[in-house]
Amino acid sequence: MRTVHSQEYFQQAEKVLVGGVNSPVRSFKNVGGVPLVMKYGRGAKLYDYDNNAWTDYCLSWGALILGHAHPNVVLSAKRTLEKGTSFGTTTREEIEIAGHITTHVPSLELIRFVNSGTEATMSAVRLARGFTRRDMIVKFDGCYHGHFDDLLTAAGSGVAQLKKSSSLGIPQNHIDNTISLPYNDVSVLEQTLTKHKDTIACVIIEPVAGNMGVIPAQPEFLKRLRELTKQYGIILIFDEVMTGFRTSAGGAQADYGIIPDMTCLGKIIGAGFPVGAYGGRKDIMQCLAPLGGVYQAGTFSGNPVVMRAGLTGLRLLNAAFYQRLNDRCAAFVEDINGYFQASDIPAHIAHYKSMMSIRFRKEPVLDYADAQAAAGGSPEASLAQDGPRQGRAAAGGERYAQLFQHLLNAGIYWPPADLEAFFVSGAHTKKDLEHLANALKNFFKNEKCQISN
Ligand SMILES: Cc1ncc(COP(=O)(O)O)c(C=O)c1O
Repeated sequence: MRTVHSQEYFQQAEKVLVGGVNSPVRSFKNVGGVPLVMKYGRGAKLYDYDNNAWTDYCLSWGALILGHAHPNVVLSAKRTLEKGTSFGTTTREEIEIAGHITTHVPSLELIRFVNSGTEATMSAVRLARGFTRRDMIVKFDGCYHGHFDDLLTAAGSGVAQLKKSSSLGIPQNHIDNTISLPYNDVSVLEQTLTKHKDTIACVIIEPVAGNMGVIPAQPEFLKRLRELTKQYGIILIFDEVMTGFRTSAGGAQADYGIIPDMTCLGKIIGAGFPVGAYGGRKDIMQCLAPLGGVYQAGTFSGNPVVMRAGLTGLRLLNAAFYQRLNDRCAAFVEDINGYFQASDIPAHIAHYKSMMSIRFRKEPVLDYADAQAAAGGSPEASLAQDGPRQGRAAAGGERYAQLFQHLLNAGIYWPPADLEAFFVSGAHTKKDLEHLANALKNFFKNEKCQISN
C-alpha cells in the first residue's frame, strides 16, 4: 500500500504533537512503521490521505458499534448543532438520553454525564469514597480504567508485594491507597476484602476485561465479588466504558445478572463523540453536588450535540441488531478457531460477543499474567515497563507486530498494540469477516511453514 501522504502528515504531526499523537496507543511504537493519518470513515472502512481503504477493527477503540458516520447519527448531530453548540444549562437532550440509558441499565437510578471514560471512573471513585468515608480502592491487574492517578496503580499479585505505579508523576499516597489483585482469583479476593473491609471504599472492575485482550470474568468470581462487597458495605463499581451497550443493551451486568452499586459508561453512548457517564444507586448518587458534599463539575458535560447523537445511536441498538452482530461474530470465531485447532496452530481468538483479541496459545487466558504469557512476553518483563499500555504491548513483541503488518498489507486496520481488543461493528459484512479470517489463516500458515523449514 502506498502511504506517502500519511508519512508526510505524520512527520508534521511529530513536530507539534507529543509523539505525533494525542493518545499513546495511537502510535505504532509497539508494531513498527509510521502511523496512518486518516481522512474520513464510512461504515466499516477508514480512508487515508493516499485514498487507501482500511477495514477498521479498532473503531475508535470500541466507540463505533454502528461503524463510521452512520447517516442517522450524522444528521441528528447536524440538526442539533444548528441550534447552538453548548449552553451550560440543562437541555432536553440530556433528559432523553438519561431516560434511555436508565431504562436499559436499571441499576443506574441516577446518572451524571461527563466528557470521557476517565472522568467517569475518577468521579465514581471519589463519590464512593465520599459515600463510605473510606480511602482504599481495589482494582484488578490488567484492567484499565483510564488515566486517573489512583487507578494507574498496579500492585502485582496481592497486597503483600511492593506496590508499583504504572506511570511516573503519581504521588506515593495515591499508590498506597490502591490494591490491585489478580483477575478471576476468588481466594485472593476473599482474603483481601476480609482483611481490609473497614478501609476499602470500592472495588472497580471491568466485568468483561477488554484491556488485557478479552477476558470475560468467571461468573463465580463476579458472584462472590458481589456477595463480599455487599457484606462489607464496599461499593461495587462496574466499569462498563467498553462493555456498555456493546455486549447487549443492558451491558455485561445484564448478561451476568449481577447488579453493581455504580456503573461507568463511555465510548458507545456518545456514538463517536467524547463522552462518559457514571451512575448507580440513588442514595449514593445523591451524595453528589448539588445534592450532597462530593464535588464534580464540567463546562461541557452533557453537551447537547453529543447527547443527541449518542441517543440516536443508542436507539438503533435493538435486540435484532445485537442478535445479528453477535451471531456474525460467533460464526467468525468458530471458523477461525476451528482452523487453528484443525491445523494444530497454537493460537486462538478470545472473544465476548463483538469484542475480540488474538492469543498466541491454545489454552484459555484467565488473568493478566496469562495474557502476557499468551502474548509472547513474561509478566516480569511487562511490570518492568513504565506505562501500563506500553508495558502490555511490549510484552507481546514481535509476533503481534508481524501480524499487525501482515493485516495492514491486506487492508485491515487492527489496534496497534497486542493486548488491546479489536471490535466488530454492525457495518462489517460477512465478507469483511471472511477477508479477516483468510488474512489470519495466511499469516499463521506462512509462520508454520517458516518454523517447520
Ligand atoms: C474499561 C475502560 N475504562 C475507562 C476507559 C477510559 O476512557 P477514556 O479513554 O474515554 O478516558 C477506557 C478506555 O479505553 C476503558 O477501556
